[in-house]
Amino acid sequence: MSRPRHESAAGATLWGIFNGLKKKNSIGSLTWEDRIEGKTCLVTGASSGLGKATAVQFAERGGRVMMACRSGLPEAGEEVKRLSGSGSVDMAHVNLADINSIYAFCEGMRKRQARFDIVVCNAGVVPAKARKTKQGFEEQFAVNYLANFILVTELLKNGCIQADGSRRSVPRIIFISSETHRNPREIDFENLGVFRDYAMKGSVAEYGYTKLLLSAFACELDRRLNRNGQIQAAVHHLCPGAVNTNIAREAPALVQPFIKLAFGLFFKKPHKACSPVIYLACSRDIEGRSGIYLHLMEEKPAAPAALDAESGMRLWEATEELIRKASDAAEQRAQ
Ligand SMILES: NC(=O)c1ccc[n+]([C@@H]2O[C@H](COP(=O)([O-])OP(=O)(O)OC[C@H]3O[C@@H](n4cnc5c(N)ncnc54)[C@H](OP(=O)(O)O)[C@@H]3O)[C@@H](O)[C@H]2O)c1
Repeated sequence: MSRPRHESAAGATLWGIFNGLKKKNSIGSLTWEDRIEGKTCLVTGASSGLGKATAVQFAERGGRVMMACRSGLPEAGEEVKRLSGSGSVDMAHVNLADINSIYAFCEGMRKRQARFDIVVCNAGVVPAKARKTKQGFEEQFAVNYLANFILVTELLKNGCIQADGSRRSVPRIIFISSETHRNPREIDFENLGVFRDYAMKGSVAEYGYTKLLLSAFACELDRRLNRNGQIQAAVHHLCPGAVNTNIAREAPALVQPFIKLAFGLFFKKPHKACSPVIYLACSRDIEGRSGIYLHLMEEKPAAPAALDAESGMRLWEATEELIRKASDAAEQRAQ
C-alpha cells in the first residue's frame, strides 16, 4: 500500500509546497475595516509563528489580546505590542503538556473575570520522538489534542467563554488543525491516551492522528453547543497550509538546512498564513455559522472520520474518562 503523502517530514514538506502553489477557491476576504474593537481574544502558543502573527493582527484590529504561552514571557508580548502599536496585549503562562498548568491557567482567567469573545487554540508540537508528559501521556496527544479539550471545556464551565446567549456577540472558538488529519482512517478507541513510542519517522504520522482527534473534537463541540441550529458559540477549525515557522525545530540536524531552505523559499510567512484564522475570527459574513473547516482560505468538508457524529460522541466520553483517571491518579499520588 502506498504511504499517504504527508506521513513523513519530507513528504509533508513537498506536499505543503505543492499545495501552496495550487489555485484554490476562497471563502471570502477581510478588509482593515473588519475590526474587533473591544473584543477579548485568547491565543495559545502565541510566543512564536502563527500564534504570534495572529495576536499581532487581533491587536491591530482593535482586540484585547491574551497570549497564553509556555515561553517568551514577557518578550513576545512586548514584540506584539510594538508590531501592532496596541497596548491592549497581555500574557499568561501555561504549559499545555501539563494538565495541572491548564487548570491553573483557567482558574487564573476565572479570577480575572475574563470573558473571551474569540479563542484560538493554536499551540502545537511535532517532537523528534515520543515523550511522556507529567501525567504519562504522549506529548503530541497531550498538547495537540487533550490540552485543547481541557482548556475549552473548562473555560466554558467557568464562564470565561459564555455560550449561553448572554454575550452581545456569539463567541468564536477556532482550532488550528492540519490537512494531515485526513491521513488516519479512524480513531483508535482501544488505545486512546495510551503512550505509544515512536522515533522521528513516526512523528508526522502521530501528528496527523492528533490533528484528527482535534478536528473530531471541534465537530463534536459544535454539535453539543449548537443544537437545533441555535448558535451559542461558533466552532471552526482550519489548516493554514505550509507556514515558515519553528514547527520543525526538532527535525534532525542533517535535514535542517533543507527544511530551512524549503520553508524560506516556498512556505508562507506567518503574517500571511494567519489569514484563515483572522477571517474565521473577525468576518461578519460568517455570523450565524458554525462548523466551518478551511484549508488555507478554501472551505471544505473535514475528513469523514472527524465529521462522524457517533465517533465524536465516543471520543468526548472517552476523553472525559481519561481526564477523570488522570485526576484520580494525581490525587492518589498526593495522599
Ligand atoms: N507550520 C506549518 O506549516 C503548519 C501547518 C499546519 C498546521 N500548523 C499548526 O499551526 C499551529 C502553530 O504552529 P506554528 O507552525 O506556528 O509552529 P511554532 O512556531 O513552533 O509555534 C508553536 C507554538 O506552540 C507552543 N507550544 C508548544 N508546546 C507547548 C506547550 N507544551 N505549552 C504551551 N505552548 C506550547 C510553542 O511554544 P514554545 O515557543 O514555548 O515552544 C509555540 O508558541 C500548530 O497547531 C501547528 O500544528 C502548522
